[in-house]
Amino acid sequence: MDFKSVPRRAYTSGPTPIEYLENLSKLLNGPDIFIKRDDYLGLAGGGNKTRKLEFLLADALKNKSDTIITCGAVQSNHCRLTLSAAKKEKIDCHLVLEERVPNSYSPTATGNNLLYSVLDADSKTVVPGGSDMIKEMEKVAKKVEAEGKKPYIIPMGGSNEIGALGYAACAEEINLQLKEDQIDIDYIITPTGSSGTHAGLLLGMGESSRSIPIIGISVNNQTKAQEEKIFKLLEQTSEYLNIENRIEKSAVKVLDDYIGLGYSLPSDGMIEAVKLLAQSEGILLDPVYTGKTMHGLIDLIRSAYFKTDDKVLFMHTGGSPALFNYGSLFQ
Ligand SMILES: Cc1ncc(COP(=O)(O)O)c(C=O)c1O
Repeated sequence: MDFKSVPRRAYTSGPTPIEYLENLSKLLNGPDIFIKRDDYLGLAGGGNKTRKLEFLLADALKNKSDTIITCGAVQSNHCRLTLSAAKKEKIDCHLVLEERVPNSYSPTATGNNLLYSVLDADSKTVVPGGSDMIKEMEKVAKKVEAEGKKPYIIPMGGSNEIGALGYAACAEEINLQLKEDQIDIDYIITPTGSSGTHAGLLLGMGESSRSIPIIGISVNNQTKAQEEKIFKLLEQTSEYLNIENRIEKSAVKVLDDYIGLGYSLPSDGMIEAVKLLAQSEGILLDPVYTGKTMHGLIDLIRSAYFKTDDKVLFMHTGGSPALFNYGSLFQ
């Protein structure tokens, strides 16, 4: 895929490693598990948004914007990383935080919320769950415009046709690494929320000769709604790049069995998964995305979804700073 015509900033100095999880693979007695360490990406605390922000911030700067407005949940990795990118680019950043779980916002919470203060967000606006987030961000944009600023709105999770390019590029990076290391992956497993990661991966993988099934573990939506969301973004991103989308809708695969009681709410399976990876491999996951996705992977292995000679690549999309807000679960 040719990204050369698309402006891009660089926030990580090289590819993130793909590591073999020998201890976990042995413990689970299933397929060989590999992990793509996107928790090592650049900006404050790393994670998948860094890849999307390379394209989004470049677009904002191309538009001569001096202020970023974005939104997320009260413990948003995306808000933390967007703020971090804005600081690096020396521009302003305003956050609109959605209280998806009633009364979940606490100004003194740790985790990502603490980092909003350390990184010094220009403003934080907390709105009730289910609010029209685009409208809420537009309200902030009007205010900053009145102050003579030029705002640029980044949607929830950075998941639009520009942000998704980050994961199309990541798919190319993965393909190159697998080729160099001579690893034949049979499946990729990724968390899916605002959908840009899964859509971008599908697009990037589809453009190569490889067609590795990508299983998305939903953290919020039911399967059908999430698959439609991903496919729609896949089409929009192809259109943006002026390429034909060759991915069939049936190739978009999402499982919604690991959401538990709801977005960001802890589940026993997530707690087991976070502890298992930490204690077998010394790697930290997060409670909202990668913990639930690892729960999915463990459950699929235990229910013999994979063959024992399969090779599965787990996308570590970051988020471990949020772990500190869930302390009591792990003590
Ligand atoms: C750590 C982490 N993993 C995965 C995701 C989901 O990625 P996407 O929103 O692109 O579907 C997010 C989104 O916020 C995240 O913060």
